[in-house]
Amino acid sequence: MKITEAANALNTTPRTIRFYEEKGLLHPEKGENGYRYYQEEDLWKLQTILALREVGMSTEDIKDALEGEDEINTYLDLQRSALYEEWLQLKDMIKTVDDMLAKQQENHLTTEDLFTLSNQLKTMKGLRSSWQDQWNFNDQAASYDQNIKTTGYRFNVHAYYHDALAKVVELVQAVPGEKGVDLGTGTGNLAAKFLSQGIPMIGVDQSEQMLKVCGEKHPEIDVRLGHFLSLPIMDDDVQFIVSSYALHHLPDEEKELALREMDRILGAGGRIAIADLMFEDESAKEAVLAEYEREGNTEAVEAILDEYYADRSRLIRWLEQRGFAVESFQFTPILHILYAQKP
Ligand SMILES: C[S@@+](CC[C@H](N)C(=O)[O-])C[C@H]1O[C@@H](n2cnc3c(N)ncnc32)[C@H](O)[C@@H]1O
Repeated sequence: MKITEAANALNTTPRTIRFYEEKGLLHPEKGENGYRYYQEEDLWKLQTILALREVGMSTEDIKDALEGEDEINTYLDLQRSALYEEWLQLKDMIKTVDDMLAKQQENHLTTEDLFTLSNQLKTMKGLRSSWQDQWNFNDQAASYDQNIKTTGYRFNVHAYYHDALAKVVELVQAVPGEKGVDLGTGTGNLAAKFLSQGIPMIGVDQSEQMLKVCGEKHPEIDVRLGHFLSLPIMDDDVQFIVSSYALHHLPDEEKELALREMDRILGAGGRIAIADLMFEDESAKEAVLAEYEREGNTEAVEAILDEYYADRSRLIRWLEQRGFAVESFQFTPILHILYAQKP
């Protein structure tokens, strides 16, 4: 098939096809007369390229997807995550413009308001893009399940791990017909408990390698690359949200944005159950740290200060301000569960 016929068959233009050739995405056979001839395989490839361009993927990413070792869904997952981030960014921008217009209609829009509103937007953008995986979860993925079994540390954050996960399942009381999401799912240990009850689960994580292990262990989990601050899930899409040992990787101001994101994806009457490392409040944190210091347990002090254990009272306050009914449970001074129900 010649270039014009190929273009007609796929509803595109010869110019577009030539562009993909120049970018090294297509390598059609060339006849002695200099014409390009497109075989069936070239047409399949071209169709894939056009589809991936349609969802916004760059030509470089498409090239990697076609030639790289990873499967194409790895790239699609990346693309979905990027699109959600852009979408949320746009939503925030629209909301800011709406707020500006509302003030203006009341004749109250001052320069100071403009500055404050645009600054809020800027802060949000900054928070969404600033998080970095300083613990390198990709490297931890292969040995993660083994490591949580490890005992014998002076400070073992995974004491009561299984009890905490079981309590989350007990609190949520999922029923058939519901769909849930596990945020920071890691290797999927918590999400899997719901699968065994016949509940479909999405597992979100920022680490590709964690998701790979999770997908291999539990192919039924719908794994999605994504961030606590821009969840790759539509509004009101799930009936419950669970998370274990993950939220403490976000600084406090980001935790609040993460809770807002959870509120966005959770349907009315939905539940959130978070098992995580946190303190009852600031004074409890000081007391626990002082006790470890007194014991000379530097391992514990360093581990705590290396992460962002939440102030539980702050999380509760924020959820209650949003109308959630909140209960909390404590396993140890550093391991708690928050259970919240949306109105
Ligand atoms: C300690 S592991 C816990 C995994 C699992 N939930 C469990 O209980 O075994 C923390 C997980 O949270 C993920 N995570 C940390 N910060 C995240 C963020 N900001 N967005 C998405 N995932 C995050 C990490 O990649 C990692 O897989």
